[in-house]
Amino acid sequence: MKKKIAIGISLIFLISPLYGSYNITILGTGYVGLVSGTCFAQMGHHVVCADINKKKIKQLSHGINPIYEPGLSELIKRNVQEKRLHFSSNLPESIEESDIIVIAVNTPSKENGQADLTALESALYLIAKHAHNYKTIVIKSTVPIGTNHQIKSRLDDFNLPESSYGLVSNPEFLREGSASCDCLYPDRVIIGSESQRATEIMKNLYKSLPKETHFVITDRTTAEAIKYASNTFLALKISFINELANLCDATGAHTATVTKAMGLDKRISPQFLKPGPGFGGSCFPKDSLALVHTAKEYNSHMLTVQAALQANNLQKTVPITKLRSLIGNDLSGKKIAILGLAFKANTDDIRYSSAITVIDTLLQEGAMIQAYDPKAIPNMKLLYPQLSYSDNSYDALRDAHAAIILTEWSEFSTLDLAKAGAIMADKIFIDCRNVLNQMDLVANGFRYQTIGNGGTRHIPISYFFCPDPY
Ligand code: UDX
Ligand code: UDX
Repeated sequence: MKKKIAIGISLIFLISPLYGSYNITILGTGYVGLVSGTCFAQMGHHVVCADINKKKIKQLSHGINPIYEPGLSELIKRNVQEKRLHFSSNLPESIEESDIIVIAVNTPSKENGQADLTALESALYLIAKHAHNYKTIVIKSTVPIGTNHQIKSRLDDFNLPESSYGLVSNPEFLREGSASCDCLYPDRVIIGSESQRATEIMKNLYKSLPKETHFVITDRTTAEAIKYASNTFLALKISFINELANLCDATGAHTATVTKAMGLDKRISPQFLKPGPGFGGSCFPKDSLALVHTAKEYNSHMLTVQAALQANNLQKTVPITKLRSLIGNDLSGKKIAILGLAFKANTDDIRYSSAITVIDTLLQEGAMIQAYDPKAIPNMKLLYPQLSYSDNSYDALRDAHAAIILTEWSEFSTLDLAKAGAIMADKIFIDCRNVLNQMDLVANGFRYQTIGNGGTRHIPISYFFCPDPY
């Protein structure tokens, strides 16, 4: 894992700035906006990352990166030094001076699953007010299929004449943890626009990407649909494999062998077939909910995606069910170490993380929690200031009656299990990411549960003749 990230980080510096640069403003300097803006600067454009959050902009202006994303700080530093990347909370000024305005504000879920477009609306208002010459307006925020029609009519309401802008839907597919690399080496770039002029500008914008990059030029509505189709299909794939893993646990089949064999079928691919404690993050849960909501609005349905969401909600309860199977039903007064709070490794993001569901249940049941994560503790502290947080895995494991691994941080896979066993009150591990070596667990006298490795019945052995697809 570490090796893959290191290769990725060295690759991001290979994309070198080309000629024909644009002045770009990114509205919304969050996980997506900051990475996209920095990558556009790395491609040679002049970028202002703007945000209404003045504290964030102040931090960035002082060289402090507010998010953890491998390789990003180095990339920011280089592009700031080379004067292609700037940060500003003066949104009107940035808009006035830009050729291209990229909207990357957040679009969270409302209670009913619908995407909340309030931030998008304010961004449009600002653009309409401060755009005094032709602008290419790029929607990078994930917005429900068909929103581009509303965007157009909002711009009409705000008196921005159609001739003074080109509207583009340009969804991003970056994954937190490998975001810079995904941005600079995308599988595909989607450009959805009805404007020939804006489409040409977008092609130029991405001109320095590797020449094997696929460009899909389409209309805005289709571009919006591509984003939801991709994310929800992946969500569906994970929910499928999670349910299958639970069945494998019940029947004694070995999931890792099933998924490797499935993945060898090129039509299926080996990716996104890792079972775990349920998918989280800012995209899969939110986008699945929004797609189901959009389908309902159009008197249609997305039953498969609805099922994926239901399965995912259930999957988030699996760690506690497994814990009870080893520790008993009564969790009150039990000390539980939680290793991993982020929704996946290599990010500090905790949005929709399974750790939240697990912590809520443990708190309700009167358990005591000792939590550790290499990067996500500051974010989790904002949600649960009352928890006890540790500086490292071993401090979290001390005197614990059981430990639950929820995030696949590589440091958990190299835990010294003899040391862990010596300091825990009971030797119990619930490994929801299958990162521990089961033979080591057995050798060190642990009772344990995994997700999809047949509980304790199977100790995987290596017998594949072809290279490991992971
Ligand atoms: C992005 C979005 O584009 C979302 O639609 C997509 O599905 C996931 O990725 P993300 O980057 O994760 O969201 O959001 P976040 O990290 O919350 O950043 C959004 C930023 O926009 C924040 O810094 C916020 O302060 C800023 N913002 C919000 C504005 O600048 N103006 C606003 O009016 C509202
Ligand atoms: C996702 C999409 O992959 C990306 O293209 C899109 O633009 C934004 O949303 P992200 O949310 O950063 O990216 O993370 P991703 O790597 O897709 O993982 C999402 C969730 O699925 C995580 O909780 C992860 O742990 C889980 N997952 C992923 C699994 O449980 N098993 C897998 O095999 C893969």
